Amino acid sequence: MSLKIRTLSCLLACVAGSALVALSPVAADDKPKISIKDAMKEHKKGGLKDKVLEGTATPEEKKKLADLYVEMAKNKPPKGTDDSWKKLNDALIKASKEIVDGKPTGVEDLKKAVNCGACHSAHKAS
Ligand code: HEC
Repeated sequence: MSLKIRTLSCLLACVAGSALVALSPVAADDKPKISIKDAMKEHKKGGLKDKVLEGTATPEEKKKLADLYVEMAKNKPPKGTDDSWKKLNDALIKASKEIVDGKPTGVEDLKKAVNCGACHSAHKAS
């Protein structure tokens, strides 16, 4: 009887243990919520990025663009080094957060960071 209980409690502990690993917030956080291609849809003329640069975006939309860059950065680009990808995305994240925070340099910094050609030649496959 006592052996049975011990086996059972071990079994329960093991199941609970693996469930915790599966639900670990770090693992969930690293998974991008948006693909690069979906993020690019907001970079078309008149998209979210243009609204933010033109100053017509609402505070929610500014926050949405900053979140978009955070999620885009978690993807692996089709080509190029991780170092370069991180650098380009960090500039986008930093500038878009400056705009959320109302820093006057934000828009200029974002214009510099959103360099379509520089990022595409380094990280877009074709
Ligand atoms: C920080 C890097 C980066 C910047 C800045 C960037 N792009 Fe991209 N873009 C990419 C990558 C990487 C891909 C390829 C995605 C893939 O194939 O999965 C891409 C793909 C695209 C595509 C094709 C999407 C599709 O569905 O195949 C379009 C359109 C596009 N970008 C437009 C733009 C425009 C316009 C700008 C500037 C206003 C811009 N991008 C700025 C990284 C960037």
